[in-house]
Amino acid sequence: MADQDSISARISPNCPPETQRILTAAWSHDLAAVKKLTDAPGKASLQDPRTGETPLHAAIRACGPPSEDDTPEDLEAAHKVVYELLLWGAIWNDVDDHNETPGCLANRLNRPELYRLCMEAGVRAEMLFGLMGGYEELGSDGEEDDDEMADGVADGDEAPQLVPVEGNGHDGVDVEEVEDVQVEEEPTFQPPKLDADADVKSEAYLRSKLTYSEGKLVDDVGNGVMMAWETDIMRQSVNALLPAKEAGKKILNIGLGMGIIDTMFAETKPSRHHVVEAHPEVLAHLSAPDAKFGAKWEESGSEPGAYKVHQGKWQEVCLSLLEKGEVYDAIYFDTFGEDYSQLRKFFTEYIPGLLDSDGIFGFFNGLGADRKICYDVYTKVAEMHLADAGLDVDWNEIPVDMKGLTEAGKGEWEGVKRRYWTLDTYRLPVCKFLG
Ligand SMILES: C[S@@+](CC[C@H](N)C(=O)[O-])C[C@H]1O[C@@H](n2cnc3c(N)ncnc32)[C@H](O)[C@@H]1O
Repeated sequence: MADQDSISARISPNCPPETQRILTAAWSHDLAAVKKLTDAPGKASLQDPRTGETPLHAAIRACGPPSEDDTPEDLEAAHKVVYELLLWGAIWNDVDDHNETPGCLANRLNRPELYRLCMEAGVRAEMLFGLMGGYEELGSDGEEDDDEMADGVADGDEAPQLVPVEGNGHDGVDVEEVEDVQVEEEPTFQPPKLDADADVKSEAYLRSKLTYSEGKLVDDVGNGVMMAWETDIMRQSVNALLPAKEAGKKILNIGLGMGIIDTMFAETKPSRHHVVEAHPEVLAHLSAPDAKFGAKWEESGSEPGAYKVHQGKWQEVCLSLLEKGEVYDAIYFDTFGEDYSQLRKFFTEYIPGLLDSDGIFGFFNGLGADRKICYDVYTKVAEMHLADAGLDVDWNEIPVDMKGLTEAGKGEWEGVKRRYWTLDTYRLPVCKFLG
């Protein structure tokens, strides 16, 4: 096992005795001790103040990568402890000082069974947040607001407060040897956010100044609104939404952005092509004489209103499209600065009225895409909510060419604040009405 994953590296000498006890019990897969120590709310999520180790991290890390010394009994013991901790409220997405959640750790150590337990806990937590009327805003990379960082807890989540710690002179294993009290600087381990756009608020975004440069559209604080590396995803989305590629289809696209997907839609010679766009600066580009989706394009439709960019927020425009009885064969949704609740609202409240009974709906699936476990959790959450809305989803897995995408601030990410995509596989949703 790498040094950085050893028990002495993970349970710090200054860790408070109560935390040491549960971390040590979890590390040794001592189910009886773990059961005894998780006797009050919050205990299953105690965190070493220096390393951020939680009992879940400890139970998973102690397994190390698969080896010939593994016995089925060891694995079962680990499984039971992880399960028990989750049962007692251990937080699935707490990160340690290496920015790893317990699920990230299970993935790195190639422990798929333990990864699955963490993932399922994430799905349960997110479904519950949904029922309670809000979502845990999940992003990552420690980019939380300063005020959230100050008290160590992000809005609306259950991250434990990391308090100044007591104790020193301990090797991280024998809790009985803990003696004096020492106050350390308070570290901050923040849970990642599932929703890549959660830190960008819609109203602020719609007021922000945008810059179109080669290959990207960024807002005034450097968030990537749309980037050319997504072109292949847009191409594959068009292929999935219009599988027979026949002309004469009725298409609705929410979010013009760089016009990449609309250019592809336009090439299929639809009978109706409607776009909804809310940002004044994106709209301002449409009045240029050579604008691809300007007046000339609108006039090229077979009848007035057949080709149109509807100006305004989809939340308002789509109501009027519903009132007019517009129905589409293909609908795509890709906005910016809105959280998952808006995507869910769109497919729950608008898709049933706007999509033809044989139509296909798709959306840009970037939820939680800066961390594998968040992406997996949100795939499942979205799938369940889509089913609630009467939609069946197939996920087409497509490889993402990661050339130029692997390092924050470099390659494609140069001049972009946040590397919102880190995965080599994109799950492209293809949604149709159930039955
Ligand atoms: C990621 S871009 C879309 C990129 C597009 N798929 C393409 O291929 O270029 C998102 C777009 O949605 C727009 N947008 C954001 N919120 C919106 C809203 N509530 N209603 C309509 N458009 C919105 C943004 O201004 C932006 O142009």
